[in-house]
Amino acid sequence: MSALFSPFQLKDVTLRNRIAVPPMCQYSASDGLANDWHLAHYTGLARGGAGLVIVEATAVSPEGRITPACLGLWNDAQGAELARIAAAIKAAGAVPGIQIGHAGRKASANRPWEGDDHIPAGDARAWDTLSPSASAFGANLPRVPKEMTLADIARVTGDFATAARRAREAGFEWLELHFAHGYLAQSFFSAHANQRTDGYGGEHAGRARFLLETLAAVRGEWPENLPLTARFGVIEYDGRDEETLADSIQLVREFRAGGLDLLNVSVNFCTPAAQVPWGPAFLAPIAARVKRETDLPVASSWGIERASDAERVVAEGQMDLVMIGRALLANPHYPYALAKKLGMARPSWVLPAPYAHWLERYR
Ligand code: FNR
Repeated sequence: MSALFSPFQLKDVTLRNRIAVPPMCQYSASDGLANDWHLAHYTGLARGGAGLVIVEATAVSPEGRITPACLGLWNDAQGAELARIAAAIKAAGAVPGIQIGHAGRKASANRPWEGDDHIPAGDARAWDTLSPSASAFGANLPRVPKEMTLADIARVTGDFATAARRAREAGFEWLELHFAHGYLAQSFFSAHANQRTDGYGGEHAGRARFLLETLAAVRGEWPENLPLTARFGVIEYDGRDEETLADSIQLVREFRAGGLDLLNVSVNFCTPAAQVPWGPAFLAPIAARVKRETDLPVASSWGIERASDAERVVAEGQMDLVMIGRALLANPHYPYALAKKLGMARPSWVLPAPYAHWLERYR
């Protein structure tokens, strides 16, 4: 029996296997609204056999979008379009999830294939960005953000809670808070971005405060019986790795006490100077450590593509779910390839019957 293809239960939700599609921005929306591209894309991924499909980073407010073409969930019209996607994912047998976030100082950028840099200040498409401190990310993202006032902080925390309510109303059953990748929440926790001297900066408790308050606000809106998860960078690869990891693991314990059900373990990406050791499944030992030291279920991604790696990280208990991104962009039916490679009985049946039957019958 394959560990990767065993079911996984969290709260009242059961995934048919341990393969999850991580959030992957499509940069294809207008005014934050999903369209036929998103519907076809997510339907295809869900038909491919993954247990969980998480819709891309969806901004809780207009200035929280990475690019002008990112999805949003700050109005009901956006919720209505996303409801079609949640229903389509569910109809294909996967659990519909969504990641909600705020891009902070990395917002107001061009699409990756159109420069991946900040839109120049004078350009009509640009907007003012927000961050804990008035310090830029640097490199391709040099725009200096506005230091958030206490009113800004309270407003954005409320925006997360409202977006969570809209996500539930749209039919999503799995919520992921985007606390990673150098966006707003990760910036509050990182000394690379947060130089505040008030109650939202400084020592651990101050840097953790925005994230814990946002989690609490969302917990109040998101049903207790459904998984509430977060993606959070626990390591920066900036030479302070043990310190950052220990500090992050402490915060993950606080997330757990605050009602978080699972952590999607990732990288901080708060400084362009980071030296990330890219390679197959390089983050798996870090995810395993977070799981061991917090007793929270974990998921992770980054270069977990080979069937042997995907099976091993689950079988050895390094993570509960395996997030597979780019391999699924290349081939949305990749779970079928994994099932064949792992010697599953009747592997085509990870796909819907109109495909599975024919693949099995005429082998
Ligand atoms: C991403 N990634 C990402 N991560 C996230 O937390 N929210 C997001 O919206 C996105 N958007 C996104 C778009 C695209 C096109 C890619 C390729 C990646 C990161 C993604 O979730 C995943 O962690 C990485 O792709 C690494 O996993 P793989 O591709 O090595 O399996």
